[in-house]
Amino acid sequence: MKDSFRLVITGSPGTGKHTSARIVAEKLGAQVIDINKVALDSGNAAAAVVVARTDRGLDVDTKKLGRLLAAALKKKGSFVVVGHLAPYVLKASAAKIDMVAVLRRSPSKLESNLAARKYAREKINENVSAEILGVLLYDSIKAFGRRRVAEFDTSNRTPDETAGEIIAALQKKAPRRTGMVDWLAVLSEEEVQKFFAY
Ligand SMILES: Nc1ncnc2c1ncn2[C@@H]1O[C@H](COP(=O)(O)OP(=O)(O)O)[C@@H](O)[C@H]1O
Ligand SMILES: [Mg+2]
Repeated sequence: MKDSFRLVITGSPGTGKHTSARIVAEKLGAQVIDINKVALDSGNAAAAVVVARTDRGLDVDTKKLGRLLAAALKKKGSFVVVGHLAPYVLKASAAKIDMVAVLRRSPSKLESNLAARKYAREKINENVSAEILGVLLYDSIKAFGRRRVAEFDTSNRTPDETAGEIIAALQKKAPRRTGMVDWLAVLSEEEVQKFFAY
């Protein structure tokens, strides 16, 4: 592998993106680019990308945010770009990305992570149902191409273990797999009903 790399870590809120991004970046000497932070730091200038702050999160101008991120990725060095918006704002930079790690987490564990953040029931259900459907995996494959995408289930892993798995796949010491996670197959009818009731 060439010396510098560009890794994207995405996944539903609460899957462990920021925690693993920090560990991977520390271990490999890379810089973390937090997509939400780039959006918020754009401030009120002409380049401002935050259109509105809603109770669902930030509404951003994905084109403008994409241009800011593309400019940041032109700089020298290695980068770990992290955020659930990745497939929507980095599509134009796809050719420059070495690997996209999509983090997955079991609905019940995701639910407790989001409840700990004091998310409202509706917002928890919205995020967990998107995780059940694998929205970010699907959108990442569409935006970056299947070859670049690898899926990691963080449910029964420590953050260090997940970071190690991501690094192994990035360095092609382990295969980049997708399609192993199927929450619909492991949930009961009632559980599915509960998360989709919103
Ligand atoms: N394997 C794992 N990888 C990353 N984080 C994990 C893992 N297992 C548990 N966690 C925990 O999950 C919580 C949410 O992680 P966070 O990085 O904030 O998620 P995200 O950035 O995707 O919203 C943290 O408390 C973190 O310590
Ligand atoms: Mg986060």
